[in-house]
Amino acid sequence: MSTLIRNGTVVNADSMVPADILIEGEKIKDVRQGIPANAADRVIDASGLLLLPGGIDAHTHLDMPFGGTTSSDDFETGTRAAAFGGTTTLVDFAIQARGTRMRDALDTWWKKADGRACIDYGLHMIVTDLGNAGLEDMDGMVREGVASFKLFMAYPNVLMVDDATIFRALSQTAKNGALICMHAENGGVIDVMVQRALAEGKTAPIYHALTRPTTAEAEAVHRAIAMAEVAGAPVYIVHLSSEAALNEVREARDRGLPAFAETCPQYLLLSVEELERPNFEGAKYVFTPPLRDKENLPKLWDGLKHDHLQVVSTDHCPFCFADQKVLGKDDFTKIPNGGPGIENRLQLIYHHGVNQGKLTLNRFVELVSTTPARIFGMYPRKGVLAPGSDADIVLWDPQADYIISAKTHHMRVDYSIFEGFRVKGNARTVISRGEVIVDGGQFLGKPGRGQYLKRAARGGAWT
Ligand code: URP
Ligand code: ZN
Ligand code: ZN
Repeated sequence: MSTLIRNGTVVNADSMVPADILIEGEKIKDVRQGIPANAADRVIDASGLLLLPGGIDAHTHLDMPFGGTTSSDDFETGTRAAAFGGTTTLVDFAIQARGTRMRDALDTWWKKADGRACIDYGLHMIVTDLGNAGLEDMDGMVREGVASFKLFMAYPNVLMVDDATIFRALSQTAKNGALICMHAENGGVIDVMVQRALAEGKTAPIYHALTRPTTAEAEAVHRAIAMAEVAGAPVYIVHLSSEAALNEVREARDRGLPAFAETCPQYLLLSVEELERPNFEGAKYVFTPPLRDKENLPKLWDGLKHDHLQVVSTDHCPFCFADQKVLGKDDFTKIPNGGPGIENRLQLIYHHGVNQGKLTLNRFVELVSTTPARIFGMYPRKGVLAPGSDADIVLWDPQADYIISAKTHHMRVDYSIFEGFRVKGNARTVISRGEVIVDGGQFLGKPGRGQYLKRAARGGAWT
């Protein structure tokens, strides 16, 4: 089957040109102006539309056990919602249970995705325990295409690992070319602050934010980068939320270190007051790191513009308000940490970034697709519209008006943290490996069509 997309404007990270795209099977065959209409079995008219490389969300948690429950989107509902929003690839997190081999976790997460994923997916491995075989396991994961590992400096007794473990893991990636993704918050300090708050009877959702200060994030970012520097390895800070943490990344990059960081729409668009909503609704905004004072927001946008931050992902980790968030009604530490967003990333960053003049269109593409593909070993198969790349293409209507709401979204969660947000610009048609999977608000793909992506380790070639 061949498809010709005509009369659109092709936007890559480094170019924007009026051009047609010819798709042969699952791949892009040609990108140029004036491809004749009879060159393909099917023609799609893209007049007035932008043609973007499919979005890549490098940070999601589908079907993830956490906080005594499981995130409410599985690989079917989560990837379908992602597709509606123009995301055609995601990288989710498998979790090594303490005392077990990473291979077990990989098998478990493959089973979760098998028969369900509607778009292509890769996996990071969350390392909780290096034990005797951990370093060997990391090399084994790289051979399976798990080219990145997440380590936690927070959540003591659950996911947190000590500095020695972090340093050993970083040192291993200096050799095997993988990338450490760091959840950077000082878990020890936070734990003491949490215990103090509870002892004082402070149990409401707002105390989730008040016990996790930005300094605890900045300190951990500094320590993570320092350990990576000693190990001679790159490091990627996940879900960076504050100016203080951003300054640490910027200073490291100014010194030429391979330090990278992502932020997420919630940290760019929402602030800490949300956690004070009445009737326990603040719990909807309990995720980690927490929302910050609004002074941080323009600094993060500035960081995206000037490449101090390289990626926008979602940290999509939904829990329903009615029967999951409510677990923490009398104790904020029992509120499952996480929020939904996989469907709205492109809409929000396009509207608040491109439409409001904070980002160029090219930078937008770079942040939501090209750089995640490069950093996480998927480029040029993903992240670019060019001959030979997978035909993952979003036909983006820059004039489409859309109101975000839980009433109409496709995520399996009973609220939206962006309820009522109006955006201009939305995905009209979404193509994944040559197949139209979303068109005009209809899902046309099939669960199970998404493929596991074996991602390449960079082997030290960091720029
Ligand atoms: O609150 C969050 N972010 N939940 C997901 C787990 C994590 O730390 O990324
Ligand atoms: Zn995290
Ligand atoms: Zn996360």
